[in-house]
Amino acid sequence: MAKLVINDSKELGRIEPEIYGHFSEHLGRCIYEGLFVGENSDIPNVNGMRQDVVNALKEIQIPVLRWPGGCFADEYHWKDGIGEKSKRKKMINTHWGGVVEDNSFGTHEFFELCKQLGCKTYINGNLGSGTVQEMSEWVEYMTFDGVSPMAELREKNGHKKPWKVDYFGVGNENWGCGGNMTPEFYANMYRRYQTYVRDYDSKKPIKKVCCGANVDDYYWTKGVMETCYDHTPEHLHGFMDFISLHYYVHPEGWEIKGSATDFTEEVWYKTLKKALFMDTLIKRHSDIIDQYDPEKKIGLSVDEWGTWFTCEPGTNPGFLYQQNTVRDALVVGITLNIFNKHCDRVKMACIAQMVNVLQAVILTEGEKMIKTPTYHVFHMYRHHQGATLLDSELSGVNEVGEGEWKVPDITESVSKKDGIITITLNNLSATEKRDLEILFATDKNYEVVEANIVTNKDMHAYNTFENPEVVKEEEFNLYEIDKNKMTVSLPACSVVEIRVK
Ligand code: AHR
Repeated sequence: MAKLVINDSKELGRIEPEIYGHFSEHLGRCIYEGLFVGENSDIPNVNGMRQDVVNALKEIQIPVLRWPGGCFADEYHWKDGIGEKSKRKKMINTHWGGVVEDNSFGTHEFFELCKQLGCKTYINGNLGSGTVQEMSEWVEYMTFDGVSPMAELREKNGHKKPWKVDYFGVGNENWGCGGNMTPEFYANMYRRYQTYVRDYDSKKPIKKVCCGANVDDYYWTKGVMETCYDHTPEHLHGFMDFISLHYYVHPEGWEIKGSATDFTEEVWYKTLKKALFMDTLIKRHSDIIDQYDPEKKIGLSVDEWGTWFTCEPGTNPGFLYQQNTVRDALVVGITLNIFNKHCDRVKMACIAQMVNVLQAVILTEGEKMIKTPTYHVFHMYRHHQGATLLDSELSGVNEVGEGEWKVPDITESVSKKDGIITITLNNLSATEKRDLEILFATDKNYEVVEANIVTNKDMHAYNTFENPEVVKEEEFNLYEIDKNKMTVSLPACSVVEIRVK
């Protein structure tokens, strides 16, 4: 039997709620249809935001939302998306499907959405094709509370009070779609552009995100840190608060990707092995960042992550619409456990993307909406948000899968908030149940507050608009507890949450 020892008095650090963040790009049906249907839609909405989706999202406690891209961000000119809607500029979304972007969702609409979700705001600025002036004026438009041309323009457009920008990304993927830059070139651009991302309200400083690496491009991280990182004490705060990392799981590689729903057992393990690679990536990028910032003042923001499969047959390939199975539930369970365990460096992460794109938590079709397996895992794991990571040690783990795609059969993370310990467990085996003994180091009578599971006997199971509850969160009762000891039986392909006090 595998064994998990929880040192419940050994606290390792705060799990920032922003690790459970989301990403919404002007891509396919994420913003338009998925989140924003417009004020005149028959779909029930408040100020254009569809309420079925907003209400479902509120239940998983969205901590932060990143917008407007992605690759779209470095082509986005914010002034196209303000003012009278009928007069807003129409453009072609060249990156994503070549469709007309009518700019009816812009800055005002983004802040309205975040207000309805009750989440923090993460704006990604345009460094690739935008000017310093444009970036500077956007920040002034959003945050300046006084007399200035941009504050006046905002008021003219119906919003007198400034908004709060919590995070600002200075470019996106500038090693690729954001300008194909070298690390040194980008780093110097970052130094210049970030200067004009001003804190107009010193009580509400904007945290700046520097563009980090693609997957295992350690050369990029090293190059950017070397040129960008400013050792002078007065610059330590507010010069670079985060460096990003983007990593997608493509089971069959970038070219082929692989089907979201039709896969073999071998591909199941391949996918999970690739999800586990996140741990190596965080360690190796952190080792580089540590050389400059041993005190860990800079957060790693994994602001694009998740599965990226071949899009659903019959859909626009530029829309990146994919289904979401029990396999996605395991990917998200594994990844969030990894983030929790690295909460000393990982301070923010945004799954890609929120609705209808890549590993979405919600899918929509007309007025219909379904929650994906990924949604249900986010719902269980919400208890880790803002909690304290506890020391936990797993032993007796088996390897499952074949050859280079072997994976450990269990992963876990444990946190504590308001006197309740939350344990999240994954059984990665496609076929075998797994028994686990849990021992709490403190000798007291623990009791289970709640326990839930997301699973299905069929690893391919997913929700459809006709059958929306094939995979959902259910009560879990395959455990016994006696004082400070528990035994748990984890079904194959399962993500489990147990909460004790
Ligand atoms: O999320 C889809 C795309 O993936 C984003 O636009 C880009 O940043 C990344 O390559």
